[in-house]
Amino acid sequence: MESRMDQDEVQKPEPGRNTGNHNDSNTDFQVTYTHEEVAFFHLHQTHHFDEFEYPSDQYCKQDLFPKWHLPLKIASIASLLIFIYTFLRDVVHPFVTTNENTFYKIPILVINKVLPVVSITLLALVYLPGILAAGFQLHYGTKYKRFPQWLNGWMLSRKQLGLLSFFFASMHACYSLCYPMRRSYRYKLLNWAYQQVKQKKENAWIEHDVWRMEIYVSLGILGLALLAILAVTSIPSVSHSLTWREFHCIQSKMGYLALLLCTIHALVFAWNKWVDVNQFVWYTPPTFMIAIFLPIIVLLCKSVLLLPCLRKKIQKIRCGWDANTEMNKTQMTSRL
Ligand code: HEM
Repeated sequence: MESRMDQDEVQKPEPGRNTGNHNDSNTDFQVTYTHEEVAFFHLHQTHHFDEFEYPSDQYCKQDLFPKWHLPLKIASIASLLIFIYTFLRDVVHPFVTTNENTFYKIPILVINKVLPVVSITLLALVYLPGILAAGFQLHYGTKYKRFPQWLNGWMLSRKQLGLLSFFFASMHACYSLCYPMRRSYRYKLLNWAYQQVKQKKENAWIEHDVWRMEIYVSLGILGLALLAILAVTSIPSVSHSLTWREFHCIQSKMGYLALLLCTIHALVFAWNKWVDVNQFVWYTPPTFMIAIFLPIIVLLCKSVLLLPCLRKKIQKIRCGWDANTEMNKTQMTSRL
């Protein structure tokens, strides 16, 4: 959700260079509109367009939500893949192996595995390019070398990726909170109670399971609250009212904290399932393992970058220090 361009991390396009690509030219610092866009804006102000009246062909060809194309594609492909994966594991597998009909799981339980996995992956994708950019700057020892085009494009999509992550997380929270309302859940509860009576068990309380749920739900709520703050501060009117330092503090530090909380939320949810071999249906890992794979990599890399020796070097580079100029200077003085 880092909407404002971090000058240290993302290089601005060359002045006057018009690539014709909206992702390149529209930064949140410096929004540059093409003549067509300005003309269209004026036309929109002076004319009333409704469903009976279309603007000329030229305006119909205008790209819709250009900045959202890549993030939406990533989110849709990830959702589809995770849906197929979960459907095969949670619905097809019991049907094929034990002839158990669990198709009722599709609308809520399967969807509620897709939503959090996609959400946390998108959140990790918001912070991964920052880490790659830091690695790039450390490698070249300068902030003046241009990032590759793909990294620049990825950086410019971070806000949209973050907002999509928040959207998926909010849906996941709604789906999760409605679990006890479902009829299937009520029947299961009745069946468990009946089994308990049959086994003459008086108390069904399992201490570690109680703790597991209290902790992971609480962490989920905290993670969602932080994501909401990140989303609100990415609204241009709000972000413009903040100083660069305030904005950076919220989007970077709070963002990593949100990613950490959400990862721990998934880890605690999994609890002792990590060592349960039954989780490997058809030799495939459970979704929570897939979910935390990328966030753990991002968090580990971030911890490495926070080591004093690397942090100081990055700070120096971002303040303008250039390893190549330093080398030239030492070469010059040695020659003199
Ligand atoms: C109000 C906030 C939240 C609540 C109440 C909540 C609740 C839950 C519940 C009940 C589950 C277990 C789902 C199941 O049984 O299949 C779960 C799993 C999970 N949640 Fe959340 N959650 C919240 C926020 C979040 C957020 C913000 C994220 C990350 C962006 C997240 C990521 C995950 C992940 C990755 C899993 C594991 C999914 C799996 O593989 O089965 N949750 N959450």
